Amino acid sequence: MGAGELVYEIRQIVEIGQNVSRLSGKPIAWENIGDPVQKGEKLPAWMKEIIVQAVREDSTYAYSPTRGLTETREFLAERLNREKGVRIHPDDIIFFNGLGDAVNKVYGQLRREARVIGPTPAYPTHSSAEAAHAGYQPITYKLDPARGWMPDLDELRNKVRYNESIAGIMIINPDNPTGAVFPREILDQMVRIAKDYDLFLVGDEIYINMVYNGKKCTHLSEVVGDVPAISLKGISKEFPWPGGRCGWMEVYNQTGNKMFQKYVKSILDAKMLEVCSTTLPQYVIPRIMGHAEYANWQVERNSFFERRSRRVAEILGGIPEIIVNPPDGAFYVSVVFKQELSNRMRMRIDNPAVQNYIDGLCTSEIEPDRKFVYHLLASRNICVVPLTSFVCNLQGFRCTLLERDDSKFEEIYHGIRDGILEFLNG
Ligand SMILES: Cc1ncc(COP(=O)(O)O)c(C=O)c1O
Repeated sequence: MGAGELVYEIRQIVEIGQNVSRLSGKPIAWENIGDPVQKGEKLPAWMKEIIVQAVREDSTYAYSPTRGLTETREFLAERLNREKGVRIHPDDIIFFNGLGDAVNKVYGQLRREARVIGPTPAYPTHSSAEAAHAGYQPITYKLDPARGWMPDLDELRNKVRYNESIAGIMIINPDNPTGAVFPREILDQMVRIAKDYDLFLVGDEIYINMVYNGKKCTHLSEVVGDVPAISLKGISKEFPWPGGRCGWMEVYNQTGNKMFQKYVKSILDAKMLEVCSTTLPQYVIPRIMGHAEYANWQVERNSFFERRSRRVAEILGGIPEIIVNPPDGAFYVSVVFKQELSNRMRMRIDNPAVQNYIDGLCTSEIEPDRKFVYHLLASRNICVVPLTSFVCNLQGFRCTLLERDDSKFEEIYHGIRDGILEFLNG
Protein backbone atom coordinates (compact mmCIF):
# COMPACT_ATOMS: atom_id res chain seq x y z
CA MET A 1 0.00 0.00 0.00
CA GLY A 2 1.28 3.46 -0.82
CA ALA A 3 0.27 7.08 -0.59
CA GLY A 4 -2.94 6.18 -2.39
CA GLU A 5 -4.52 5.17 0.94
CA LEU A 6 -3.94 8.63 2.37
CA VAL A 7 -6.69 10.30 0.39
CA TYR A 8 -8.74 12.98 2.12
CA GLU A 9 -11.47 13.52 -0.41
CA ILE A 10 -13.24 16.11 1.77
CA ARG A 11 -10.47 18.54 0.89
CA GLN A 12 -9.27 17.14 -2.44
CA ILE A 13 -12.63 17.79 -4.05
CA VAL A 14 -12.11 21.50 -3.36
CA GLU A 15 -9.65 21.78 -6.23
CA ILE A 16 -12.23 20.38 -8.65
CA GLY A 17 -14.87 22.71 -7.20
CA GLN A 18 -12.57 25.69 -7.67
CA ASN A 19 -11.96 24.75 -11.30
CA VAL A 20 -15.71 24.44 -11.90
CA SER A 21 -16.24 27.83 -10.28
CA ARG A 22 -13.54 29.45 -12.41
CA LEU A 23 -14.87 27.92 -15.64
CA SER A 24 -18.52 28.69 -14.88
CA GLY A 25 -17.92 32.07 -13.24
CA LYS A 26 -20.32 31.00 -10.46
CA PRO A 27 -19.71 30.48 -6.73
CA ILE A 28 -19.85 26.97 -5.23
CA ALA A 29 -22.04 25.93 -2.31
CA TRP A 30 -19.41 24.08 -0.26
CA GLU A 31 -21.17 21.15 1.34
CA ASN A 32 -18.02 19.08 1.60
CA ILE A 33 -16.36 20.19 4.80
CA GLY A 34 -17.55 20.19 8.42
CA ASP A 35 -16.50 23.72 9.24
CA PRO A 36 -19.39 25.60 10.86
CA VAL A 37 -17.52 28.91 10.74
CA GLN A 38 -16.93 28.66 7.00
CA LYS A 39 -20.68 28.07 6.61
CA GLY A 40 -21.53 31.29 8.41
CA GLU A 41 -21.88 30.36 12.09
CA LYS A 42 -20.80 33.14 14.45
CA LEU A 43 -19.21 32.47 17.81
CA PRO A 44 -21.33 34.18 20.47
CA ALA A 45 -20.04 37.58 21.65
CA TRP A 46 -19.41 36.37 25.23
CA MET A 47 -17.21 33.56 23.92
CA LYS A 48 -15.18 35.89 21.73
CA GLU A 49 -14.81 38.26 24.70
CA ILE A 50 -13.26 35.45 26.78
CA ILE A 51 -10.81 34.73 23.96
CA VAL A 52 -10.00 38.44 23.53
CA GLN A 53 -9.24 38.75 27.25
CA ALA A 54 -7.02 35.67 27.11
CA VAL A 55 -5.07 37.14 24.19
CA ARG A 56 -4.24 40.10 26.47
CA GLU A 57 -2.63 37.79 29.04
CA ASP A 58 1.08 37.14 28.47
CA SER A 59 0.92 33.57 29.76
CA THR A 60 -1.22 32.50 26.78
CA TYR A 61 1.81 33.05 24.53
CA ALA A 62 3.94 30.55 26.45
CA TYR A 63 4.45 26.82 25.86
CA SER A 64 2.17 24.60 27.92
CA PRO A 65 3.06 21.31 29.64
CA THR A 66 3.19 18.40 27.16
CA ARG A 67 -0.05 16.90 28.51
CA GLY A 68 -1.71 20.31 28.35
CA LEU A 69 -2.44 23.10 30.85
CA THR A 70 -2.89 21.64 34.33
CA GLU A 71 -5.88 23.83 35.27
CA THR A 72 -7.70 22.86 32.09
CA ARG A 73 -7.10 19.15 32.61
CA GLU A 74 -8.24 19.53 36.25
CA PHE A 75 -11.36 21.32 35.07
CA LEU A 76 -12.19 18.58 32.52
CA ALA A 77 -11.48 15.71 34.94
CA GLU A 78 -13.56 17.32 37.69
CA ARG A 79 -16.46 17.96 35.28
CA LEU A 80 -16.42 14.36 34.08
CA ASN A 81 -16.46 13.20 37.67
CA ARG A 82 -19.31 15.54 38.66
CA GLU A 83 -21.51 15.01 35.58
CA LYS A 84 -20.79 11.39 34.67
CA GLY A 85 -19.47 9.93 37.90
CA VAL A 86 -16.29 8.95 36.07
CA ARG A 87 -13.08 9.04 38.07
CA ILE A 88 -10.19 10.11 35.95
CA HIS A 89 -7.04 11.85 37.01
CA PRO A 90 -6.04 15.08 35.22
CA ASP A 91 -2.95 13.19 34.03
CA ASP A 92 -5.24 10.81 32.13
CA ILE A 93 -5.91 13.73 29.77
CA ILE A 94 -3.52 14.70 26.97
CA PHE A 95 -3.98 17.67 24.65
CA PHE A 96 -3.27 17.66 20.92
CA ASN A 97 -3.22 20.11 18.04
CA GLY A 98 -6.71 19.14 16.99
CA LEU A 99 -8.01 15.59 16.96
CA GLY A 100 -6.32 15.05 13.62
CA ASP A 101 -3.04 15.10 15.58
CA ALA A 102 -4.44 12.79 18.27
CA VAL A 103 -5.81 10.32 15.72
CA ASN A 104 -2.43 10.04 14.05
CA LYS A 105 -0.73 9.27 17.32
CA VAL A 106 -3.41 6.77 18.44
CA TYR A 107 -2.68 4.60 15.39
CA GLY A 108 0.94 5.61 14.88
CA GLN A 109 2.01 4.36 18.30
CA LEU A 110 0.37 0.95 18.00
CA ARG A 111 2.47 -2.13 17.44
CA ARG A 112 2.64 -2.53 13.68
CA GLU A 113 0.78 -5.86 13.74
CA ALA A 114 -2.01 -4.54 15.97
CA ARG A 115 -5.15 -3.52 14.11
CA VAL A 116 -8.12 -1.38 15.12
CA ILE A 117 -11.44 -2.29 13.54
CA GLY A 118 -13.58 0.73 12.66
CA PRO A 119 -16.95 1.49 11.11
CA THR A 120 -17.78 1.66 7.41
CA PRO A 121 -18.59 4.29 6.33
CA ALA A 122 -15.99 6.11 8.44
CA TYR A 123 -14.41 9.50 8.80
CA PRO A 124 -11.30 8.94 6.65
CA THR A 125 -8.73 10.45 9.03
CA HIS A 126 -9.19 7.37 11.24
CA SER A 127 -9.27 4.71 8.58
CA SER A 128 -6.38 6.19 6.58
CA ALA A 129 -4.15 6.62 9.63
CA GLU A 130 -4.91 3.10 10.83
CA ALA A 131 -4.42 1.50 7.44
CA ALA A 132 -1.29 3.49 6.64
CA HIS A 133 0.26 2.40 9.94
CA ALA A 134 -0.60 -1.25 9.41
CA GLY A 135 0.29 -1.26 5.72
CA TYR A 136 -2.99 -3.02 4.86
CA GLN A 137 -6.55 -2.10 3.96
CA PRO A 138 -8.77 -0.95 6.87
CA ILE A 139 -10.70 -3.63 8.78
CA THR A 140 -14.29 -2.57 9.15
CA TYR A 141 -17.69 -3.36 10.64
CA LYS A 142 -20.81 -2.16 8.83
CA LEU A 143 -23.11 0.65 9.81
CA ASP A 144 -26.39 -0.35 8.20
CA PRO A 145 -28.31 2.43 6.38
CA ALA A 146 -31.45 0.28 6.39
CA ARG A 147 -31.35 0.18 10.20
CA GLY A 148 -30.74 3.85 10.89
CA TRP A 149 -26.97 3.34 10.48
CA MET A 150 -26.75 1.09 13.52
CA PRO A 151 -23.63 -1.12 13.64
CA ASP A 152 -23.77 -4.77 12.63
CA LEU A 153 -22.67 -6.19 15.96
CA ASP A 154 -22.71 -9.82 14.76
CA GLU A 155 -20.25 -8.91 12.04
CA LEU A 156 -18.12 -7.01 14.56
CA ARG A 157 -18.05 -9.95 16.97
CA ASN A 158 -17.23 -12.40 14.20
CA LYS A 159 -14.43 -10.33 12.73
CA VAL A 160 -12.90 -9.82 16.16
CA ARG A 161 -13.22 -13.53 16.96
CA TYR A 162 -11.48 -14.68 13.79
CA ASN A 163 -8.80 -12.01 13.49
CA GLU A 164 -6.24 -12.18 16.24
CA SER A 165 -4.45 -9.07 15.06
CA ILE A 166 -7.41 -6.89 16.09
CA ALA A 167 -6.42 -5.12 19.31
CA GLY A 168 -9.03 -2.40 19.41
CA ILE A 169 -12.48 -1.24 18.30
CA MET A 170 -13.13 2.28 17.14
CA ILE A 171 -16.47 4.03 17.23
CA ILE A 172 -17.45 7.59 16.28
CA ASN A 173 -20.39 8.77 18.38
CA PRO A 174 -22.26 10.85 17.25
CA ASP A 175 -21.08 9.67 13.90
CA ASN A 176 -19.42 11.33 10.95
CA PRO A 177 -20.49 10.81 8.10
CA THR A 178 -23.91 9.40 9.05
CA GLY A 179 -25.20 11.65 11.85
CA ALA A 180 -26.18 8.53 13.81
CA VAL A 181 -26.25 8.58 17.61
CA PHE A 182 -25.67 5.15 19.10
CA PRO A 183 -27.97 4.16 21.96
CA ARG A 184 -26.61 2.93 25.25
CA GLU A 185 -27.51 -0.74 24.51
CA ILE A 186 -25.33 -0.67 21.38
CA LEU A 187 -22.41 0.82 23.27
CA ASP A 188 -22.91 -1.69 26.08
CA GLN A 189 -22.64 -4.52 23.57
CA MET A 190 -19.52 -3.08 22.00
CA VAL A 191 -17.93 -2.82 25.42
CA ARG A 192 -18.98 -6.44 26.01
CA ILE A 193 -17.22 -7.53 22.80
CA ALA A 194 -14.10 -5.58 23.78
CA LYS A 195 -14.14 -7.23 27.18
CA ASP A 196 -14.71 -10.74 25.81
CA TYR A 197 -11.77 -10.46 23.41
CA ASP A 198 -9.45 -8.38 25.56
CA LEU A 199 -9.53 -5.34 23.28
CA PHE A 200 -9.31 -1.63 23.94
CA LEU A 201 -11.83 0.92 22.69
CA VAL A 202 -11.34 4.20 20.89
CA GLY A 203 -14.36 6.52 20.98
CA ASP A 204 -14.23 9.61 18.81
CA GLU A 205 -16.60 11.88 20.73
CA ILE A 206 -15.84 15.19 19.09
CA TYR A 207 -19.61 15.66 18.49
CA ILE A 208 -20.69 14.37 21.90
CA ASN A 209 -22.61 17.53 22.87
CA MET A 210 -24.25 17.94 19.48
CA VAL A 211 -27.34 15.77 19.75
CA TYR A 212 -31.00 16.60 18.96
CA ASN A 213 -34.33 15.07 17.85
CA GLY A 214 -34.90 14.07 21.49
CA LYS A 215 -31.92 11.67 21.42
CA LYS A 216 -29.58 11.32 24.35
CA CYS A 217 -25.93 10.68 23.80
CA THR A 218 -24.25 8.14 26.03
CA HIS A 219 -20.61 8.90 26.67
CA LEU A 220 -18.12 6.06 26.36
CA SER A 221 -17.01 6.91 29.90
CA GLU A 222 -20.50 5.97 31.20
CA VAL A 223 -20.44 2.43 29.81
CA VAL A 224 -16.78 1.53 29.65
CA GLY A 225 -16.63 -0.26 33.03
CA ASP A 226 -13.10 -1.61 33.44
CA VAL A 227 -12.24 -1.92 29.72
CA PRO A 228 -9.20 0.15 28.68
CA ALA A 229 -10.36 2.96 26.45
CA ILE A 230 -9.54 6.30 24.88
CA SER A 231 -12.11 9.00 24.28
CA LEU A 232 -11.27 11.79 21.84
CA LYS A 233 -12.91 15.18 22.39
CA GLY A 234 -12.33 18.65 21.09
CA ILE A 235 -13.52 22.18 20.44
CA SER A 236 -13.35 22.30 16.63
CA LYS A 237 -17.06 21.55 16.25
CA GLU A 238 -18.33 22.48 19.68
CA PHE A 239 -17.28 26.12 20.15
CA PRO A 240 -16.89 25.99 17.09
CA TRP A 241 -13.18 26.77 16.68
CA PRO A 242 -11.70 24.39 14.11
CA GLY A 243 -8.87 26.81 13.32
CA GLY A 244 -7.79 26.71 17.00
CA ARG A 245 -6.45 23.16 16.42
CA CYS A 246 -7.30 21.89 19.88
CA GLY A 247 -8.55 18.50 21.03
CA TRP A 248 -7.78 16.08 23.80
CA MET A 249 -7.69 12.44 24.75
CA GLU A 250 -9.22 11.02 27.92
CA VAL A 251 -7.75 7.68 28.93
CA TYR A 252 -9.88 5.28 30.97
CA ASN A 253 -8.63 2.28 32.93
CA GLN A 254 -4.94 2.46 32.21
CA THR A 255 -3.90 1.41 35.69
CA GLY A 256 -3.78 -2.33 36.02
CA ASN A 257 -3.15 -2.89 32.31
CA LYS A 258 0.59 -2.73 31.71
CA MET A 259 0.43 -3.03 27.93
CA PHE A 260 -2.21 -0.32 27.55
CA GLN A 261 -0.30 1.89 29.97
CA LYS A 262 2.85 1.48 27.88
CA TYR A 263 0.92 2.33 24.72
CA VAL A 264 -0.52 5.51 26.26
CA LYS A 265 2.94 6.47 27.49
CA SER A 266 4.29 6.12 23.95
CA ILE A 267 1.56 8.51 22.75
CA LEU A 268 2.62 10.99 25.43
CA ASP A 269 6.29 10.54 24.48
CA ALA A 270 5.47 11.21 20.84
CA LYS A 271 3.72 14.42 21.90
CA MET A 272 6.72 15.34 24.06
CA LEU A 273 8.97 15.27 21.01
CA GLU A 274 6.76 18.06 19.64
CA VAL A 275 6.96 19.88 23.02
CA CYS A 276 3.26 20.64 23.49
CA SER A 277 0.00 21.69 21.82
CA THR A 278 -1.25 25.22 21.21
CA THR A 279 -1.77 27.01 24.53
CA LEU A 280 -4.44 29.67 23.90
CA PRO A 281 -7.45 27.42 23.15
CA GLN A 282 -6.62 25.23 26.15
CA TYR A 283 -6.48 28.30 28.33
CA VAL A 284 -10.02 29.43 27.49
CA ILE A 285 -11.72 26.03 27.77
CA PRO A 286 -12.60 26.27 31.50
CA ARG A 287 -13.80 29.84 31.06
CA ILE A 288 -15.98 29.03 28.08
CA MET A 289 -17.35 25.68 29.26
CA GLY A 290 -17.81 27.05 32.77
CA HIS A 291 -19.66 30.17 31.54
CA ALA A 292 -23.24 30.67 32.67
CA GLU A 293 -24.43 30.93 29.05
CA TYR A 294 -22.73 27.79 27.77
CA ALA A 295 -25.41 25.17 28.40
CA ASN A 296 -28.27 27.30 27.05
CA TRP A 297 -26.27 28.34 24.03
CA GLN A 298 -25.65 24.66 23.21
CA VAL A 299 -29.36 23.85 23.49
CA GLU A 300 -30.15 26.70 21.14
CA ARG A 301 -27.46 25.60 18.69
CA ASN A 302 -28.67 22.01 18.68
CA SER A 303 -32.21 23.15 17.97
CA PHE A 304 -30.87 24.79 14.81
CA PHE A 305 -29.45 21.42 13.65
CA GLU A 306 -32.72 19.73 14.59
CA ARG A 307 -34.63 22.12 12.32
CA ARG A 308 -32.12 21.49 9.54
CA SER A 309 -32.36 17.71 10.01
CA ARG A 310 -36.18 17.86 9.73
CA ARG A 311 -36.00 19.93 6.57
CA VAL A 312 -33.56 17.47 4.98
CA ALA A 313 -36.00 14.67 5.78
CA GLU A 314 -38.85 16.65 4.21
CA ILE A 315 -36.97 17.62 1.07
CA LEU A 316 -35.20 14.32 0.34
CA GLY A 317 -37.54 11.94 2.15
CA GLY A 318 -39.95 11.44 -0.74
CA ILE A 319 -37.41 9.97 -3.18
CA PRO A 320 -37.94 6.18 -3.26
CA GLU A 321 -34.56 5.41 -4.89
CA ILE A 322 -32.50 6.67 -1.93
CA ILE A 323 -32.11 5.98 1.80
CA VAL A 324 -31.93 9.07 3.98
CA ASN A 325 -31.68 8.77 7.73
CA PRO A 326 -32.22 12.24 9.16
CA PRO A 327 -29.28 12.83 11.50
CA ASP A 328 -29.76 12.89 15.29
CA GLY A 329 -26.29 14.21 16.05
CA ALA A 330 -23.24 15.93 14.60
CA PHE A 331 -24.14 17.87 11.44
CA TYR A 332 -23.84 15.52 8.49
CA VAL A 333 -26.29 13.51 6.46
CA SER A 334 -25.31 10.55 4.29
CA VAL A 335 -27.57 9.66 1.39
CA VAL A 336 -27.38 6.16 -0.11
CA PHE A 337 -28.56 5.19 -3.59
CA LYS A 338 -30.59 1.98 -3.34
CA GLN A 339 -30.26 1.08 -6.97
CA GLU A 340 -27.07 0.35 -8.85
CA LEU A 341 -25.86 3.47 -10.60
CA SER A 342 -25.06 3.08 -14.26
CA ASN A 343 -22.50 4.74 -16.49
CA ARG A 344 -25.26 6.28 -18.57
CA MET A 345 -26.58 8.41 -15.73
CA ARG A 346 -25.82 12.10 -15.96
CA MET A 347 -27.05 15.63 -15.38
CA ARG A 348 -27.29 18.38 -17.95
CA ILE A 349 -24.26 20.68 -17.85
CA ASP A 350 -25.03 23.95 -19.64
CA ASN A 351 -21.55 25.42 -19.78
CA PRO A 352 -19.48 23.66 -22.51
CA ALA A 353 -16.12 24.39 -20.80
CA VAL A 354 -17.39 22.87 -17.55
CA GLN A 355 -18.88 19.93 -19.42
CA ASN A 356 -15.54 19.31 -21.13
CA TYR A 357 -13.67 19.46 -17.85
CA ILE A 358 -16.05 17.13 -16.03
CA ASP A 359 -16.28 14.65 -18.90
CA GLY A 360 -12.48 14.42 -18.73
CA LEU A 361 -12.72 13.46 -15.05
CA CYS A 362 -15.55 10.97 -15.48
CA THR A 363 -13.53 8.10 -16.92
CA SER A 364 -15.01 4.60 -16.90
CA GLU A 365 -12.89 3.75 -13.83
CA ILE A 366 -14.37 6.25 -11.41
CA GLU A 367 -16.93 5.18 -8.83
CA PRO A 368 -20.44 6.05 -10.03
CA ASP A 369 -21.14 8.11 -6.88
CA ARG A 370 -18.08 10.20 -7.68
CA LYS A 371 -19.58 10.83 -11.12
CA PHE A 372 -22.80 11.91 -9.38
CA VAL A 373 -20.79 14.32 -7.19
CA TYR A 374 -18.92 15.78 -10.18
CA HIS A 375 -22.15 16.23 -12.11
CA LEU A 376 -23.86 17.91 -9.15
CA LEU A 377 -20.91 20.27 -8.96
CA ALA A 378 -20.94 20.99 -12.68
CA SER A 379 -24.68 21.30 -13.17
CA ARG A 380 -25.71 22.96 -9.89
CA ASN A 381 -22.50 24.27 -8.32
CA ILE A 382 -23.03 22.22 -5.15
CA CYS A 383 -20.04 20.39 -3.70
CA VAL A 384 -20.74 17.20 -1.69
CA VAL A 385 -18.47 14.21 -0.99
CA PRO A 386 -18.91 10.71 -2.49
CA LEU A 387 -19.76 8.10 0.15
CA THR A 388 -17.23 5.68 -1.38
CA SER A 389 -14.49 7.99 -0.13
CA PHE A 390 -15.52 7.15 3.45
CA VAL A 391 -14.04 3.60 3.33
CA CYS A 392 -17.30 2.32 2.04
CA ASN A 393 -18.76 0.42 -0.87
CA LEU A 394 -22.19 1.99 -0.63
CA GLN A 395 -22.93 4.44 -3.42
CA GLY A 396 -24.04 7.81 -2.12
CA PHE A 397 -22.79 11.10 -0.80
CA ARG A 398 -22.39 13.14 2.36
CA CYS A 399 -23.56 16.71 2.82
CA THR A 400 -23.92 18.95 5.87
CA LEU A 401 -26.59 20.75 7.90
CA LEU A 402 -24.33 23.73 8.40
CA GLU A 403 -25.61 26.39 6.01
CA ARG A 404 -26.82 29.23 8.26
CA ASP A 405 -28.71 31.15 5.60
CA ASP A 406 -32.22 29.66 5.34
CA SER A 407 -32.81 30.49 1.70
CA LYS A 408 -29.37 29.24 0.65
CA PHE A 409 -29.99 26.04 2.60
CA GLU A 410 -33.32 25.52 0.83
CA GLU A 411 -31.73 26.21 -2.52
CA ILE A 412 -28.90 23.73 -1.86
CA TYR A 413 -31.18 20.89 -0.76
CA HIS A 414 -33.69 21.47 -3.53
CA GLY A 415 -30.73 21.49 -5.91
CA ILE A 416 -29.54 18.17 -4.47
CA ARG A 417 -33.03 16.68 -4.77
CA ASP A 418 -33.43 17.80 -8.37
CA GLY A 419 -29.89 16.61 -9.14
CA ILE A 420 -30.66 13.13 -7.76
CA LEU A 421 -33.85 12.84 -9.79
CA GLU A 422 -32.18 14.06 -12.97
CA PHE A 423 -29.18 11.77 -12.53
CA LEU A 424 -31.24 8.66 -11.83
CA ASN A 425 -33.58 9.30 -14.73
CA GLY A 426 -31.08 10.89 -17.08
C1 LIG B 1 -15.17 12.40 13.71
C2 LIG B 1 -14.09 13.43 13.63
N1 LIG B 1 -12.99 13.26 14.34
C3 LIG B 1 -11.97 14.15 14.30
C4 LIG B 1 -12.05 15.27 13.50
C5 LIG B 1 -10.87 16.20 13.45
O1 LIG B 1 -11.09 17.29 14.24
P1 LIG B 1 -9.98 18.36 14.58
O2 LIG B 1 -10.42 19.65 13.98
O3 LIG B 1 -9.97 18.43 16.08
O4 LIG B 1 -8.68 17.88 14.03
C6 LIG B 1 -13.20 15.49 12.72
C7 LIG B 1 -13.29 16.64 11.81
O5 LIG B 1 -14.15 16.75 10.98
C8 LIG B 1 -14.25 14.54 12.80
O6 LIG B 1 -15.36 14.68 12.08
